Amino acid sequence: MEDASCFHNCLSSKFRLIFQTNFMSHIFSLVNQKGGVGKTTSAVNIAVGLAVTECKTLLIDLDPQCNSTMGIANLTKDISATIYDVLIRGTSINKAITHTEIEYLDLISSTNDLVGAEVELVSIMAREYQLQSFLKKLQNKYDYIIIDCPPSLGLLTINALAASDSIIIPIQCEYYALEGLGQLLNTIRLIQKHINPNLVITGVLLTMYDRRLNLSKEVTEEVKSYFEDKLFETVIHRNVRLGEAPSFGKPALLYDANSTGARNYMNLIEEILERVK
Ligand SMILES: Nc1ncnc2c1ncn2[C@@H]1O[C@H](COP(=O)(O)OP(=O)(O)OP(=O)(O)O)[C@@H](O)[C@H]1O
Ligand SMILES: [Mg+2]
Repeated sequence: MEDASCFHNCLSSKFRLIFQTNFMSHIFSLVNQKGGVGKTTSAVNIAVGLAVTECKTLLIDLDPQCNSTMGIANLTKDISATIYDVLIRGTSINKAITHTEIEYLDLISSTNDLVGAEVELVSIMAREYQLQSFLKKLQNKYDYIIIDCPPSLGLLTINALAASDSIIIPIQCEYYALEGLGQLLNTIRLIQKHINPNLVITGVLLTMYDRRLNLSKEVTEEVKSYFEDKLFETVIHRNVRLGEAPSFGKPALLYDANSTGARNYMNLIEEILERVK
């Protein structure tokens, strides 16, 4: 945690100042139905970055692959309930909150039971609003809530979008980077129209950028011409530390706080908070 304290010194007062203008949690979802684009890596590192700057943060793993849960790991207590229990069994959301080893960071974890939730939610009244109604009970408890979505546009993602203030869309710098984005944007428009009129796209994030590849530059130009000023200036470089951190059960920000990846995420957090203040 020693390296992380330098981030804290630089940024915490700034972040807390930004937060003072909001009295309720700000809820972000990391969304893209395409798999492996950096949703979980971004959700985990944004959540950890906010926590090390003393913002009370809750990370919700809404993906049956439970990668965020594993990426935080070393939980100080046993998990007594998961997001599945909350959404489907009506377990109290407070019971599903686990304190992590990182001060200021709590987690609502997932297990692969959550696969069934896509189907089980169908028969629940107001199925799109389940997560929103549970999160309302936490509004004053956290400064920020970060939701890691699964790679689909099913009911779990719709619940996340219904509950969120802001969307962050990670896009991997690869061939066909924009593939499927039309469908994602259409889903967002439908949610804004029918379910959550306050939902905004806070930004589009380029991930796994490799400065040596022309492809990364081409994708940047393509995404910029499509999303214009929605594209974050910060890009997340392809960085071996970001890739290997989860295998040590640690977020990159703590695994190697001086790595390019960790620094990219701290810059990103600053940019995100500037956009939502
Ligand atoms: N900037 C990066 N540099 C190197 N590796 C990365 C980077 N970002 C993510 N990765 C690695 O790429 C893989 C996919 O990333 P991640 O799990 O964050 O994507 P995802 O969008 O959450 O995937 P899924 O859709 O399956 O949930 C992981 O192995 C992760 O460690
Ligand atoms: Mg993921």
